[in-house]
Amino acid sequence: MRAPKGMLDVLPPESARWMEVVSRFAKRAERFGFGLLLTPIVEHYEVFARVGETTDVVRKEMYDFVDRGGRRLALRPEGTAPVVRAFVQHRPTTPWKVWYLAPNFRAEQPQAGRYRQHWQLGAEVIGIDDPDIDVEIIELLWGFCRDLGLRDVRLALNSMGDAETRTRYREVLLEYWHAHADLLGQEMERAEANPLRILDSKRPDWEDMLERAPQLGEYLSDASAAHFARVQEGLQAIGIPFEIAPRLVRGFDYYTSTVFELASDALDAAQNAIGGGGRYDKLAQEMGGPAAPSIGFGSGIERLLLACDAEGVLPVPPPHIDAFVVDLVGIGDTARLLAELRESGLSADRAYGGRSPKKQFASADRSGARWAVIIGADEADRGMVAVKDLRSDQPQCEVRREEIAAWLQTRKDEARP
Ligand code: HAM
Repeated sequence: MRAPKGMLDVLPPESARWMEVVSRFAKRAERFGFGLLLTPIVEHYEVFARVGETTDVVRKEMYDFVDRGGRRLALRPEGTAPVVRAFVQHRPTTPWKVWYLAPNFRAEQPQAGRYRQHWQLGAEVIGIDDPDIDVEIIELLWGFCRDLGLRDVRLALNSMGDAETRTRYREVLLEYWHAHADLLGQEMERAEANPLRILDSKRPDWEDMLERAPQLGEYLSDASAAHFARVQEGLQAIGIPFEIAPRLVRGFDYYTSTVFELASDALDAAQNAIGGGGRYDKLAQEMGGPAAPSIGFGSGIERLLLACDAEGVLPVPPPHIDAFVVDLVGIGDTARLLAELRESGLSADRAYGGRSPKKQFASADRSGARWAVIIGADEADRGMVAVKDLRSDQPQCEVRREEIAAWLQTRKDEARP
C-alpha cells in the first residue's frame, strides 16, 4: 500500500526539521500578538464555494463529498475561508489576530513543490483597515523566512484596489482579451468568468500579450492609491525590500487592495512561491458577518523546506537523546532508572529484548546519545552506575546511583552554549 498520489509522509529525522519550522513560526506569531486558531479539516462546501467560484482550486481541485448525513462537505483547500467562517460564527472582538497550522488539499497534478496535500502556516488579522497592519503582516512573513535562514527571497507587491477599481478594470481587461481571442482560444471562457484569472498565467506563448495588457495600478481610486502608498512607505521604513508586480492578482476571488507574494529564487520558477496573501475586506460580510476588513497570508511548509535545502540552511537538528541505559546485568533496574531520568527532564532510551552488551552499545551509538549509563554488577553492589561520555575519549567514571539524574542534568546544563 502507498500513500495517496501527491501526498507525503514526513519521517524522522526530517520531521524534526518540520517541527523546527512550525516552532519558529509559532514563536514569531506570538511575538506579534497572534493566538493559535484550530478549525476542522472539513467545512461545509459553501464556505469554500464563495471564495473561489472562478478559481481552479475550488472548481476543479476540491476534495468534496457527501457525508453519511447527506451534508456536502469539503476538505480544506486553503486556510482563509475557515478563519473567516469561525470569525462570523463566534464574533470575537476585533482586531482578531490568529495564526494557524493546517493541511490543505488540492487535486492538482503533483510535481516537485506541488502536492495534493500541503501544509500551511498562516496568519490573519480580522477587522482592521489600517495600512500599518498590512506592513506588519508582511513583516511577520518576511521575518519568519529570515528566521529560517532564507536569504534568496523576493517580495512582490500589488494593489487590487477597491470594488469600483476592479469593476472598471475588469471591463477594460475583458475588452483586451476579446481583442486577443485567437490566442486565448478555449481559455476565453475563463477570461469571461473572471478576466483577472488570465493575468497570472505562466504560459510562454502568452507572455507578450500579458506584458502589454492594461495594468490595474492605472485604475486605482485615490483612496486605494493612498493606502498602497502607505504600505510601501511602511515597508521602506523597516527596511523590507519589495518590487511592484503589476500583474500579481493572486488566485482567489476574495482579494481586495494589498496583495503580495514571497518567491524563493533558489527554487524552480514554476513552484517558487513560498508564501502569499493579501487583503480580503469584504469576505466576512459575504459570509453573513459584520463588515470586517482583513488581511493575512499562507506559507507552504514543504516549499519552505525545499527552499531551505536549496540554500543549504536549517539543517536537520541532531537527535537529542541525553542518556542511553546499558544493562550488563540483565536483571538490573533499567526500567526504574530510565523512568527516573525521564521524569527529571532528560531524554533517555534503552535497547529491548535482552540484547548482548555489544549490541546495546551499538544501539547507544546509533541513538546519538551523549552518555551511556551502564548498570554493572560490581557497581550495583556499591550503589553506583558507570557513565561513559560517548562523544569523547574520556574513560568512563562512576556516579552514585541516586545522584545520576542530577549529575547528568548538571553536565547537560554546562554543555549548553
Ligand atoms: P495560496 O497562494 O494558494 O494562498 O497558498 C499559500 C502558499 O501555500 C503558497 O505560497 C505555497 O507556498 C503553498 N502552496 C499552495 N499550494 C500548494 C501545493 N499544491 N503544494 C505545495 N504548496 C502549496 C492561500 O492559500 C491563501 N489562503 C493565503 C492567504 C491567507 N491569503 C490571505 N490570507
